[in-house]
Amino acid sequence: MKNYSKILMIGLFSLFCLQTFANDTIISVSTANTEIVILVKNEIAYFNAYGSKLESNDILLSEKMLNRRGGRKVKMIASGEIYPSYGRGNTNEAALVATHSDGNLTTELIYKSAEFLHIDNNVHQTKIYLSDNYYDFNVTMFFNAYQKEDVIEQWVEIENKEKGDVKLEKYSSTFLNFLRDNYYITHFYGAWSTEKRMVEEKLVRGIKTIEAKRGVRATQMENPEIILSKGIPAQEYVGECYGIALAWSGNYKFNFDIDNTMKLRITAGINPYLSDYVLAEGEKITTPKAILTYSNAGKSLMSRNMHLWARKYALQDGDEIRPMLINNWTGTYFKFDETLIKGMIDDAAEMGLEMFVLDDGWFGSDYPRDNDKQGLGDWELNTKKLPNGLNYLAKYANKQGIKFGIWVEPEMVNPKSNLANDHPDWIVQSKNREPMLQRNQLLLDLTNPEVVDFVYGVVDDILSENPDIEYVKWDANRHVENLGSTYLSNDNQSRFFIKYVENLFSIYEKLNKKYPNVILQACSSGGGRVDYGILKYHHEFWPSDNIGPSDRLMIQWSNSQFYPAIAMASHVGSSPNHQTKRSTPIKFRCDVAMSGRMGYELIPSHMTEEEREFSAKAIKTYKQIRPIVQFGDLYRFNSPFDADGYTALSYVSASKDEAIGFAYSTELHLREIYYQMKFKGIDPDASYKVSEINKAQKNFFLNDGAIYSGEYLIERGIQLKIAGCYDSVVLKLIKQ
Ligand code: GLA
Repeated sequence: MKNYSKILMIGLFSLFCLQTFANDTIISVSTANTEIVILVKNEIAYFNAYGSKLESNDILLSEKMLNRRGGRKVKMIASGEIYPSYGRGNTNEAALVATHSDGNLTTELIYKSAEFLHIDNNVHQTKIYLSDNYYDFNVTMFFNAYQKEDVIEQWVEIENKEKGDVKLEKYSSTFLNFLRDNYYITHFYGAWSTEKRMVEEKLVRGIKTIEAKRGVRATQMENPEIILSKGIPAQEYVGECYGIALAWSGNYKFNFDIDNTMKLRITAGINPYLSDYVLAEGEKITTPKAILTYSNAGKSLMSRNMHLWARKYALQDGDEIRPMLINNWTGTYFKFDETLIKGMIDDAAEMGLEMFVLDDGWFGSDYPRDNDKQGLGDWELNTKKLPNGLNYLAKYANKQGIKFGIWVEPEMVNPKSNLANDHPDWIVQSKNREPMLQRNQLLLDLTNPEVVDFVYGVVDDILSENPDIEYVKWDANRHVENLGSTYLSNDNQSRFFIKYVENLFSIYEKLNKKYPNVILQACSSGGGRVDYGILKYHHEFWPSDNIGPSDRLMIQWSNSQFYPAIAMASHVGSSPNHQTKRSTPIKFRCDVAMSGRMGYELIPSHMTEEEREFSAKAIKTYKQIRPIVQFGDLYRFNSPFDADGYTALSYVSASKDEAIGFAYSTELHLREIYYQMKFKGIDPDASYKVSEINKAQKNFFLNDGAIYSGEYLIERGIQLKIAGCYDSVVLKLIKQ
């Protein structure tokens, strides 16, 4: 007879979703609609499935496993385990590779127990304890299941209790195991000004690797976020797809291994490249978190899961409206003084903006930062430019009714600076090699506690000495080349990449605690510019220096796959754009910025009268719609990566009472081609008044103010007269 038991709620620890039969156990790590199923058979924990949550997986307890080697009663080889190691016959990609204290290269993990904890009503934690069957070597797997958001956060703790060192050569955060099917991955790549392009490819036999080796702000070329689609290429509203992201701002590696039986095995975690990790006796390592979500309704739902989760758990103050700011960088670059800045503050306040952010160039006295060749690292005020200091400017801004913010890049140094002269040993460098400059700068060695104190001190001093500063843009414009630390011992150099990131995160954590009201923006040169590791400590990120609006549509579209609009700074710049050289109407620029966290980046007094007037109106409009954009649910309709020259998307309020639609034409279309906008996510049973907002001279929606049924807007859609290059329309839907 079945010895079947279910134990529920024991004190604070609640055992749930655990079914056992003889020695076999099923553990379901589940959210409202999804689950990862772990099957324990003969003391080994297997990754059984990840997908829609089923009523019951009980059948697994009596099902014969097909995967036995040669039909003998032997354990399934380790490749299908929940955390496969090298050992127990596994010659596929392993999640864990360790050399034990006696030189043994194999690890064979057995299941010890599981523990379940309701952290709160929404976050349920499962811990799975695994141990080597011979060595005193433990692996604990953590799964935080976010019920409402259908997100599972997964990470691993590895502990050496052997008498002697254990060397870890691979220590993934997650391992996912999928049965034979067709699989497609979408990944994101880029470079400065062409950030975050997306490309999809079919996985074929062999291993596809997406990785970064640049160490610091590693997302410059690829990004630690992948969409995995099952069966068919990823669609917006149909099909099974997974979002997989790694919350780590250093080197990472995703391996997609299709083996000779066409099964897919995925490992994702810190890139083991140059990062062997030696655990001394009693030492532990905790891997970064992998963020997972599953959708059975295409990429759209996958993105909304991520956005919902991010606003609540993965960025600072995700429930607070972001101020509309103006940044002076693309307006003034390094060339400014107090009079110019005060004038910009006056203009910004008059236009209705809410914050002024002073970018690079405000510091350096012996080596004034008047260009990018010197002064970085010398964080004293340039009194020639700003004789009355930062707080004077902040107070001046406050008097005009707006807030004030500042740019820093405290992890970096120009060789021409007092900092480089005083602390040459603080610079990342390989022995006997020429230092290699990037944007004329070098990287400080954050593995060194003195450097950690310095970097923290730079920002802490600025904020404590200038208490009216309310925003910090934290930049980082180079990566690691010729790795080397004068602080780490010779045999510990391979800790650099990990220690750097851990120490950086610890600085942010301290600053977040000490200055809970200061808004932080994450910025870095080229490529991806954001990941879920760094975003946790920030309110937003700067997706690109390219604010040419049609390029921005692509950059924002790609970012929207994983990141919510509230985190995406999106600025209106001057025309022609400095990067693309393309001229675009002010309405188009505003309409693009409005679909993210809208701001400005130009000298207002250089705008034409028409641009200024239109901007003042647009700023007012954005303030009205920003709760829907910043907190709403995103529905994407027409991709800027499609060849048809249209982009369209919308945000729908949680109650479905309001929605904002955006449609853009980025090419010249024939006059009789109209864009047919079909909405999603609104209530099909309700009626909505559809109004065009942020209008310029002409209407692009001819039935302005008409009332439509939700069903009609979803099924038939409405015609928009956007056919010219850079025509755009913003629509507001209000439930009647
Ligand atoms: C980087 C940033 C820009 C600006 C400059 C300042 O390029 O992306 O926005 O802050 O640095 O040097």
